[in-house]
Amino acid sequence: MSTTNETSTQPERKKVIFSAIQPSGTITLGNYLGALKNWIALQDEFRCIFALADLHAITVRQEPAKFRHNTLEAYALLLACGIDLEKSIFFIQSHVHTHAELAWILNCYTQFGELSRMTQFKDKSAKHADNINVGLFAYPSLMAADILLYQADLVPVGADQKQHLELSRDIAARFNGAYSPTFTIPDPYIPKTGARIMSLQDPTKKMSKSDENANGWIALLDKPEDIMRKFKRAVTDSDGGVRYAEGKDGVNNLMGIYSCVTEKRYEQIETEFEGKGYGDFKTAVAEAVIEHLRPIQERYAQLIQDKAYLQSCYAESAQKALSISQRTLSKVMKKIGFLPG
Ligand code: TRP
Repeated sequence: MSTTNETSTQPERKKVIFSAIQPSGTITLGNYLGALKNWIALQDEFRCIFALADLHAITVRQEPAKFRHNTLEAYALLLACGIDLEKSIFFIQSHVHTHAELAWILNCYTQFGELSRMTQFKDKSAKHADNINVGLFAYPSLMAADILLYQADLVPVGADQKQHLELSRDIAARFNGAYSPTFTIPDPYIPKTGARIMSLQDPTKKMSKSDENANGWIALLDKPEDIMRKFKRAVTDSDGGVRYAEGKDGVNNLMGIYSCVTEKRYEQIETEFEGKGYGDFKTAVAEAVIEHLRPIQERYAQLIQDKAYLQSCYAESAQKALSISQRTLSKVMKKIGFLPG
């Protein structure tokens, strides 16, 4: 690659975005509206590199056959959602060996104390008290490797990953300071339309597939009748009006979902349902979600039949990811002083 010729006729380099999601189970409407829908929207403006973080997923025990299935399902589903391989790279983390290698190196530039302060580590070790493994502890340095390998400028992250991104920045700056500029320091990317989708059963909690109450969350592949049933049972309040207001967490959440899938503004929604009850509103939200998911579910059903096609997609993306990430890893190894092989 030529780097010497910096004439003004060259197009400005697109900023690089890196993001990943764990393929550890069903993908929910919360994952989709909170993160994935934004990924799709970024693909024209940015150089997007997306991954399924399967190495991260084994920090909690996975049943092998299910894990394999979930990974392929997640891959097909994200393509069905609109990841476009003409524009973006979308690979599976374990297929690209530079991730585990840089993660090891970064472990040696990360302090025990820093990792001990990660709130996700504290939460997860309380939850999985019988399996507080070193991988769970070192999870953020693997995440730093994911991001730094691609010299990502921006990383879309939710509130729960913000602390990890900050640590990635610290590790990158530390390495750059100890040697010479090597890593781009990644900034968080806050989408213009951020949605934090809450549980339909307890709207003070984030929608999560680990919620014991399956009525609290919608899977992207849920059948229309299940989606309808779950919305009809959604918790609201006794006020009775479709209005966005403090203390109306359930209704606010439904309005958020409705607004995301229909692109209607809150005032429009309030007008639409003036004088109507929650029954009508819930049905409308469910129908809008069903319609929004229909083409995704149809594309998914086709893709999952074609294992050879999926394989060619993730193999090609892994190849591209390897060639980009290898450049960073080689630089890092040279700077540290590893004897070239
Ligand atoms: N830890 C992230 C999550 O569970 C997934 C992830 C792995 C990630 N590597 C990443 C997100 C790099 C952003 C950047 O949501």
